[in-house]
Amino acid sequence: MAKRSRNFVCQECGAVTAQWAGKCATCGAWNCIVEEQEEQTPPATANLVSIKGGKGRKANFETLKTETRDAPRIETNLSEFDRVTGGGLVPGSAILVGGEPGIGKSTLLLQAAAALAQNGAPVIYLSGEEATAQVRMRAARLGLSEAPVALGTETNVANIVSSLSDGETPALVIVDSVQTLWAENLEAAPGTISQLRGCSSALISHAKRKGYCLVLVGHVTKEGQIAGPKVIEHMVDTVLYFEGQSGHQFRILRSVKNRFGPTDEIGVFEMGYEGLAEVANPSALFLSDHEENSPGTAVFAGMEGTRPILVEIQALVAPSSLGTPRRAVVGWDTNRLAMIIAVLEARCGVRLSGHDVYLNVAGGLRLTEPAADLAAAAALLSSLTDTPVPEHTTLFGEVSLTGAIRRVGHAEQRLKEAAKLGFSRAILPAGNDVQSKDRNKASADDGQKNGGIEQVEL
Ligand code: TYD
Ligand code: MG
Repeated sequence: MAKRSRNFVCQECGAVTAQWAGKCATCGAWNCIVEEQEEQTPPATANLVSIKGGKGRKANFETLKTETRDAPRIETNLSEFDRVTGGGLVPGSAILVGGEPGIGKSTLLLQAAAALAQNGAPVIYLSGEEATAQVRMRAARLGLSEAPVALGTETNVANIVSSLSDGETPALVIVDSVQTLWAENLEAAPGTISQLRGCSSALISHAKRKGYCLVLVGHVTKEGQIAGPKVIEHMVDTVLYFEGQSGHQFRILRSVKNRFGPTDEIGVFEMGYEGLAEVANPSALFLSDHEENSPGTAVFAGMEGTRPILVEIQALVAPSSLGTPRRAVVGWDTNRLAMIIAVLEARCGVRLSGHDVYLNVAGGLRLTEPAADLAAAAALLSSLTDTPVPEHTTLFGEVSLTGAIRRVGHAEQRLKEAAKLGFSRAILPAGNDVQSKDRNKASADDGQKNGGIEQVEL
């Protein structure tokens, strides 16, 4: 007989406590602790998934040898989606697609499902949030009504598992969303951590046994009312986040974990009336409104995964009337801005303590690469001194606390992309490996090799 215990579980981070509290002691979130009843033994999923081999039976051990070197892939033909997954879907794997409500997750996955189904692969789309009529209306708007996607609204995991066990094994099963799933043997309400964990692990192990690719959609919420998809990140093979800023039509699909491919890879989409359109050349898009000779802007030659992307960094430095001046960022990390400001003050004698500082990455992209520091510093100085960055110039390099500019990877790829987009000059860390020896290098610094900068004509 299963033993039952009452637990108080934080819906934000999954921490378990013996008592209710207004604030989670682990993650600090407020009003996110919910009482859940959990069956301790057997494991939460035991009634759903039959576990082979009982007590005393020897486990099988196998060798590392494999016939194929790379995991087999199923391409969806949505090339930006395939790029982020590392070349297509891997049979028998699980992918989590997280994002804020309304960002476009259902739209993206319906498009991916339809693209795959049109290629002849059997695809199942389970929508726990919308009625089939709503999904059909969306498909009609996207011009995908004819795609042979099997549509369902089942949310009971035991029913899903038994329907998927009969007949032809699908290539792809999409569950939209994981927060609507529930299992009868778990007493917690749908959307709680216990349900989320139990249902996800049952579906994931079923997908691995049957060999289909499972995509779980998860909403990220700030209020903590619904258990965050973070608690199932460790169970899945690939974690993708769909991001974007309100007011921007660009959407970015970012891989943050991938057992079958590179992470930090991004796919860029544009949300329009007819769904998500792939953006094949994101640099051109992010720079489409870039104005040369405008103070406070600098173009950063960045890398997102394996792809170089040029993006405009905008800064506004204005005298502050506040005791503690404001520092605000969009698409940038606050601590990194504080660090650049501190380095400018301490190492370059630039006084910013009496100024409000705003830093914005154009187009809704979120920069995480330290290589963007130099461009951000240039934008800040350009705004402070009201002097534009020289025309057709791009920058990259990491600013260290000593004030040195550190070398970064993929210099050649960044320069190639910049040249392709019409930039004629790049400012980069001195000594950064630029393969083409015939490039006309002119040192713009005081002659120091390491820690300084150099200028390269493209
Ligand atoms: P949706 O895919 O439902 O988001 P999620 O599943 O992440 O909650 O997309 C919701 C938003 O996208 C909604 O505000 C309307 C907008 N949208 C478009 O602009 N164009 C379209 O073709 C579609 C289908 C949606
Ligand atoms: Mg949705």
